Order: sequence, then C-alpha cells, then structure tokens
Amino acid sequence: MNTDLTLLLEELERFGSDNDDAVKHGDPGSAQRMLNITRDTGEFLAVLVRATLARDILEIGTSNGYSTLWLANALDADGRVTTVELQDTKYAMAQENFARAGLGERIDALNADAGEVLRVAGDAAYDLVFLDSDRSQYEGWWPEIRRVLRPRGLLVVDNAIPHAEEMESFMQAVQDDGFLCSLVAVGKGEFLATRSGV
Ligand SMILES: C[S@@+](CC[C@H](N)C(=O)[O-])C[C@H]1O[C@@H](n2cnc3c(N)ncnc32)[C@H](O)[C@@H]1O
Repeated sequence: MNTDLTLLLEELERFGSDNDDAVKHGDPGSAQRMLNITRDTGEFLAVLVRATLARDILEIGTSNGYSTLWLANALDADGRVTTVELQDTKYAMAQENFARAGLGERIDALNADAGEVLRVAGDAAYDLVFLDSDRSQYEGWWPEIRRVLRPRGLLVVDNAIPHAEEMESFMQAVQDDGFLCSLVAVGKGEFLATRSGV
C-alpha cells in the first residue's frame, strides 16, 4: 500500500471514530455516523480479494468510502468495485475520498437504493459481494444477491457477531440454499458464504 493511501486510511479511521463518538446511536443526526469497518476487517477483505482473484465486486453500504478503499486497492488495475450508498452526504464524502486516494478509476460509486441496484444487475455479474448496510433488508435482498453472484462467488457480510440475532434468519436462508458458510471472528464478525459443489 502506498504511503498516501496509508495516511488517508488513518485519517478516515480517526474521523470515523471521533464523528461516531460525538453522534451516538439514536441521537438526532445518528444517520450521519460513518459506521466504518474495523482496520482488521479491511485487511481481511483485501486478503479475500487477492486470494479469490476477484475482479468485479459489489459493495452495498459505502458510507464515506473507507471499506471501498480497502477493496479497490486490493484489486488488480482492471478490477472494479461498484459501491452503493443511499445518503447523498455520505456519497459525496466518498467521492471525495476516492479521488484523494487516486482509486477513482477502479470505483463505480452509485448514489442509489441497493435494492434497485440489485434488481437491475446482471446475472452472475460479481465475484464478491460485500454487504454492510441496512440489516433489515438482507433477507429480502438475498434472492437477488444469490442471482448476481458468480458460481464461485463469495458473499461477505459485516457485523455478523454483535447482530447475530438480527441476522439469524438471513444467515439461515443462505445456508438453506446450500451455500457453504463460515462465521469469522475478525472485526465485528464476518459471515462468509459461497456456493457448494460448483
Ligand atoms: C455500516 S455503513 C457502511 C460502512 C462502510 N461499508 C465502511 O465500512 O466504510 C451502512 C451504510 O449503508 C447505507 N444504506 C442503508 N440502507 C441503504 C440502502 N437501501 N441502499 C444503499 N445504502 C444504504 C447507509 O446510509 C450507511 O451509510
């Protein structure tokens, strides 16, 4: 990783932590919390991208782009991350961070609802889907996520340990569809799933 990107990621970690400490969950304005993945999750995602030779990635939940930078930096130059963020202000912050990182060419940032983006995405379009968004929607989105994942594609879902109860029915639906699943204790817990036997 180049020094400029290392410094930018460190700056975003400080910003995210200070910002989210100042605006507690449930306070007015809590929607402006960055809720970034942890640094060790970023490292883990980068390893997964390289090891799986992922070229096309879909990220649902950009926030200000911290996790996107880890994904994009791990790709080869011809790889692409499509990342989706509903909130205008966070989308704008992310765009600025992508430009600062010099990784804008590998990132398609969409200011949109993820359900809509999934609905129009092509079959088997993605090698890796990183899901870090509104957990109440995951189960409803699952049929489309399954459809857009390539045969050996990988689904990675953040926040799987502290919110295990909330995600239980979604994780069960993935397992019931015959996917191989694993819960990894990195950061806030990563739920991994890939199709078995293909
Ligand atoms: C946990 S944050 C993402 C953090 C980001 N992945 C990171 O680590 O830097 C979840 C984001 O999902 C966005 N979001 C919530 N519902 C969404 C939807 N239906 N479509 C797109 N984005 C959505 C929220 O605005 C929020 O910024």
